[in-house]
Amino acid sequence: MRKNIVAGNWKMNKNLQEGVELAKELNEALKNKSVNCDVVIGTPFIHLASVVSSIDTNKIGVAAQNCADKGSGAYTGEVSAAMVASTGAGYVILGHSERRAYYHETPEILKEKVKLALANELTPIFCIGEVLEEREANKHFEVVKSQIEESLFELSTEDFAKIVLAYEPVWAIGTGKTATADQAQEIHAFIRKTVAKKYGEDIADNTSILYGGSCNAGNAKELFSNPDVDGGLIGGASLGVDKFMPIIEAF
Ligand code: PGA
Repeated sequence: MRKNIVAGNWKMNKNLQEGVELAKELNEALKNKSVNCDVVIGTPFIHLASVVSSIDTNKIGVAAQNCADKGSGAYTGEVSAAMVASTGAGYVILGHSERRAYYHETPEILKEKVKLALANELTPIFCIGEVLEEREANKHFEVVKSQIEESLFELSTEDFAKIVLAYEPVWAIGTGKTATADQAQEIHAFIRKTVAKKYGEDIADNTSILYGGSCNAGNAKELFSNPDVDGGLIGGASLGVDKFMPIIEAF
């Protein structure tokens, strides 16, 4: 059966010391607790190795927020999937709307990143989601469908089975405006159906589909109670243990 996952996305926040401190606090908070979901934190690249060595990675998974679309070589400033894996991180967030919008990551580029992540045994948390105008024009279904098709549907069944999806309506990210539980369920069910048509019911049933976009302690329970919402990708509310723990405990 698919996993429930609550993943934090720290984005470009926290210096190294602050990041390690936050990871340790979370580790402490989870120490003697059994929770009903996998917990992941997505840190900046430079934090990865230190965070991995500061926590119990059996309890908290660690994610990079990006990786290069090339394996290695003369790509100044880039960080490869192999480098991410060498830190002990097990996940990589790919296709976040901020990367698509500000750094012009195309479906083709993302396809390469996904392949490299999988080749290095990282679990991609692959983000999809529509902008406000697309939602208002009722195009959100076709937008997420093509985002999935263009970057993921060349994968073998075996590889697709390793992907975690995160539906993040761009209009809900960092805005305080959350999709309603019904809106989330409607599109998550559609995403699962899209996966089922390509890879079959079993794979679709086993794919974790997270919701992201202003998810917080106040709305997590309602969002996660939907049958097709298998957790959250959490930005702002992952930056403090006091805000993040209640989301983890919403399961
Ligand atoms: P938010 O960000 O929770 O701050 O809206 C979510 C995300 O971008 O992953």
